[in-house]
Amino acid sequence: MSFSILGTGKAVPEYVMTNDELSGMVETNDEWIRTRTGIQERRICKGETLTDLTVRAAKEALQNAGVEPSQLDLIICSTMRGENVTPSQGAVIQKEIGATCAAFDVNAACSGFIYALDIADGYFVRKRVRYVLIVSMDNLSNIIDWKDRSTCVLFGDGGGAVVLGEGDDLLSIDITTEGNDQVLRIPHGSNSSPFYEHEEERAVLHMAGNEVYKFAVNAMATGIKKVIAQAGLTEDDVDHVIPHQANIRIINASAKNLGIPREKFFCNVNHYGNTSSGSVPLALDEANHAGLLKKGDIIAMCAFGAGLTTGSCVIRWSGNAKDPV
Ligand SMILES: CC(C)(COP(=O)(O)OP(=O)(O)OC[C@H]1O[C@@H](n2cnc3c(N)ncnc32)[C@H](O)[C@@H]1OP(=O)(O)O)[C@@H](O)C(=O)NCCC(=O)NCCS
Repeated sequence: MSFSILGTGKAVPEYVMTNDELSGMVETNDEWIRTRTGIQERRICKGETLTDLTVRAAKEALQNAGVEPSQLDLIICSTMRGENVTPSQGAVIQKEIGATCAAFDVNAACSGFIYALDIADGYFVRKRVRYVLIVSMDNLSNIIDWKDRSTCVLFGDGGGAVVLGEGDDLLSIDITTEGNDQVLRIPHGSNSSPFYEHEEERAVLHMAGNEVYKFAVNAMATGIKKVIAQAGLTEDDVDHVIPHQANIRIINASAKNLGIPREKFFCNVNHYGNTSSGSVPLALDEANHAGLLKKGDIIAMCAFGAGLTTGSCVIRWSGNAKDPV
């Protein structure tokens, strides 16, 4: 016995930044961004904090699941950078929604949501929990270099949440790490020690885009194939793929490699860009609220990111979620 997804939620900032607006900040243009990435706009935090967004997504998911904060046995927040170094973002969410259970964070960059699902699976298998809240949220606008056109056009803020309850709908899950701090990295950037002898690096995202691209196309196809086989299914059994929303070309290439019809891949990268660990649950929530997911549907999810990490899983849609919030 593991889990079923009982409800989903999302939260994105209000402010919509278009490609044209970005063109006024760095030497780029709408046509380049659209054709290379599929991104048309992204949401960027102005008034909202990461806490505002995580709490909003958590409340939506709880309402969609019909679960009270007091019923939660565990909260896992996947994020690269919570509001504070400590306490964890999970602890902040726990306080804000009025829950009393244990809470912690996991950082696996863009793969964080699948890592959190895998951790939750362990708690369900050990019968330690009945209800778990996972919130996946990143606020990359705080840590990208707004003068670097090769990276700042790719990312946006936002994410999603799910509530899990006891069930048999996790059919397979797999996480991988290939230690590599060269192709994708965000240094801390601040060190208060007067004794530390190393030079401080700017706390902005550094990325070798082409390397990540090659890694991602291979990771998506390999990861999804593996979990489909582990679940005892074939590619034909998959009703929906919810992929990490990094770049439409990565999604198209993965669909081709897998031989799964492109129409089965849910995409919202055009509206949000890459929201890191928030990306898969944000897409799952939008697919849920669009009424695309039917009870019993087989859903493959896959993400990849810094680490280098990947996470893939196959779930059966429980159809328990209530009407959209
Ligand atoms: C970043 C990415 C879109 C770049 O696409 P690409 O087709 O590989 O483009 P290149 O890096 O080869 O750059 C091609 C040219 O466009 C230029 N360019 C880069 N960013 C640009 C921008 N925003 N606007 C206009 N031109 C740009 C480059 O300087 C280069 O110019 P040059 O040929 O004169 O040197 C692509 O590599 C990618 O999506 N990688 C994966 C990134 C990712 O998903 N990261 C997150 C993982 S979780």
